[in-house]
Amino acid sequence: MLKEVPPLKELSLNSHLFNDESLKIYEEYTLKTLGYIQKFLASRKFYKGDDIQQIQEDKIKAQLTNISGENSIDSALEELNELYISNAIAFHNPNYVAHLNCPITLPAIVAEMIATTINTAVETWDQSTSATFIEQEVIKWIANEFQLGKHADGVFTSGGTQSNFMALLMARDHYAFEKFGINIKQNGWAEEVNKFKIFCSEKSHFSIKKNAALLGLGYDAVIPVKVDEEMKMDAEALVVAIEKTKQEGNIPIAVVATLGTTDYGSFDPIKTIGKIAKEHEMWLHVDGAYGGCFILTDTHKHYFDGAEMADSVTIDFHKTLFQPVSCSAFLAKNKKHFQYVSYYADYLNPIEDKDTQRPNLIEKSIQTTRRFDALKVWLTLKTLGVKTIASYLEEVHYLAKQVYNSMRINPNFELAHEPALSTVVFRYKNSEADYEPTHDKVNLHIKNSLYASGKASVASTKLNGNVYLKFTLLNPKNTINNLLNIVDMIEETGKQYQPKTEAL
Ligand SMILES: Cc1ncc(COP(=O)(O)O)c(C=O)c1O
Repeated sequence: MLKEVPPLKELSLNSHLFNDESLKIYEEYTLKTLGYIQKFLASRKFYKGDDIQQIQEDKIKAQLTNISGENSIDSALEELNELYISNAIAFHNPNYVAHLNCPITLPAIVAEMIATTINTAVETWDQSTSATFIEQEVIKWIANEFQLGKHADGVFTSGGTQSNFMALLMARDHYAFEKFGINIKQNGWAEEVNKFKIFCSEKSHFSIKKNAALLGLGYDAVIPVKVDEEMKMDAEALVVAIEKTKQEGNIPIAVVATLGTTDYGSFDPIKTIGKIAKEHEMWLHVDGAYGGCFILTDTHKHYFDGAEMADSVTIDFHKTLFQPVSCSAFLAKNKKHFQYVSYYADYLNPIEDKDTQRPNLIEKSIQTTRRFDALKVWLTLKTLGVKTIASYLEEVHYLAKQVYNSMRINPNFELAHEPALSTVVFRYKNSEADYEPTHDKVNLHIKNSLYASGKASVASTKLNGNVYLKFTLLNPKNTINNLLNIVDMIEETGKQYQPKTEAL
């Protein structure tokens, strides 16, 4: 016998679920949310600053207590404001110059709202309809920019890490199939695969090693190739490394060229690397997660000469196309290679139902349910246009050059490289002090105390085992004066540092 409908259900259907009868509530919630966003913007600091006691209190506040019954959205939002919004890092703030987080475009925010509200999953045609074409058009646009040719295709991913994963998976499975007739997708591992090696510069992103491990090849399958003084892969060293690997009885299957390394923004010489990869019949992957969008600029286009040889490309719109997280793409020169990730499920995309007019994007993705992230790029392109976006990128590069030129002549700084893109790596060295062994500690002290005070956020990295600081400039609204102000703060904090303050 059927039970009676629980009374709570009746009450909550239109007040909690999005539908044609809850539009007024949707509007009301949106306006309330806007009030909190206004407060967030009004703070004018990248971060309110922290201390350990506050962090401990926030951990307790985050606990999911009082959830057995209903509560008003007002009290939940108020709690959220205290716990999260007021603590959140403002990436649009010009004193945030740490990681690869960009300010985002207004059309992208609108697109997020539309995509989230309508909640399209770009998976099968019957779920995504014309959203499919929007994603495909954005992919076509960027693949054309890379001149990948008429057989190219691609798919949106959760980020550069996932795109690089897809690249290495395709490289592995394609090599195994073409050279040894091994079908890894069907039959799993084979002994020859143990010998597969992947080459990338020693400054490439850690996701190459991580993905090699996830693909069963292991960290040791990744051979780091040394870089020159501009932090670009040394192509001669690549050839030597490939030859050595062959002599050792191993099998070089792929080269990853990074166009825009995470720390230095350096561009590996793709034309030369591409020729080497082709000569050795290796897969050529371009990791353009950071630098890829600079293909749209006049200043950096030349770095991509040769990128058309790539078998696959990673590009992160959430780094350098001013898009909200997450928004990334993976491109393949030959759409056939998506066969290494495709699967036909009876309940979702049965092979007998394949229809070229109504494509199922799931066939190209390692995800099943997937967000409609392409809409953000589409709406941004439609409203800002490529030239405006390119001008933002050129501006951040120009800012990096300007700040580099000022710091270079300051005896208290040691610069690690000339910026090719929009990062500046440097370390503070008090020219009057004589506590050389503590330089690492001074620099970490500078980074941590500026962050904790909410004055500025800079990143740190290591070069030759030493701690360096890093500006990652992705905000075209930043100014050289503001950056020089941050440089002054760094100098001031560094000067005040005494080895004994370590314990603080
Ligand atoms: C060159 C490069 N590749 C890949 C990645 C990973 O990208 P994501 O964080 O989107 O996974 C990064 C991230 O910084 C990167 O700089």
